[in-house]
Amino acid sequence: MAYDDQGLGLGTGDRTLEIGMSISLPTGDQITEMRSEDLAAVHQLECASQHDHWSLQHFAEEFDNQVSSIDLYWCGDKLAGFLCSWLIAGELQIQNLATLPSMRRRRIAVRLLEHVIARSKSAGLASIWLEVRVSNTAAISLYKRFGFSIGGKRSAYYADGEDALIMTMRGET
Ligand SMILES: CC(C)(COP(=O)(O)OP(=O)(O)OC[C@H]1O[C@@H](n2cnc3c(N)ncnc32)[C@H](O)[C@@H]1OP(=O)(O)O)[C@@H](O)C(=O)NCCC(=O)NCCS
Repeated sequence: MAYDDQGLGLGTGDRTLEIGMSISLPTGDQITEMRSEDLAAVHQLECASQHDHWSLQHFAEEFDNQVSSIDLYWCGDKLAGFLCSWLIAGELQIQNLATLPSMRRRRIAVRLLEHVIARSKSAGLASIWLEVRVSNTAAISLYKRFGFSIGGKRSAYYADGEDALIMTMRGET
């Protein structure tokens, strides 16, 4: 089953990686790779989105990291979301994902995920994994609805002692 942009045909844990090689976006929206001049805006979005946010330096290091990609979602000229991921030997690791609070529930996170997965498929994508706070019900709901399943838990993973869920999605077997 592929994601249906009109009808939110999201899977419920059985989707694997059946996403096409490209996705369509609403008119006026675009997804671009982060440029150095976008750093400040991305950091601002991060600060508006998360309590324990990444520093500007962290984003700069990701920008310089060969295995890291930061994809930006634009609604016109407004930065609405970003997704930072690592692709290593066919394994996609979702490092960070955020949508501007005022732009949530418009499928921006879904489209960013789909975009990165579609691109990674041409590089031999086999599996995806991520860590998410056990209290982050919005993100867990997004990933479950997208087709991820819970693969484990890391106790006291975060600096404040909170546990992380490990969520995964695998290619067709
Ligand atoms: C998690 C987050 C990225 C979701 O972004 P978004 O663009 O609003 O998500 P989407 O619109 O693509 O959501 C798609 C589906 O995910 C689920 N979902 C998303 N947010 C949800 C919420 N707050 N509560 C319940 N389900 C939610 C829903 O099923 C939603 O479909 P629906 O709107 O038709 O019900 C956003 O809430 C965010 O930036 N949170 C703070 C940063 C964060 O926690 N990042 C994740 C780190 S692992």
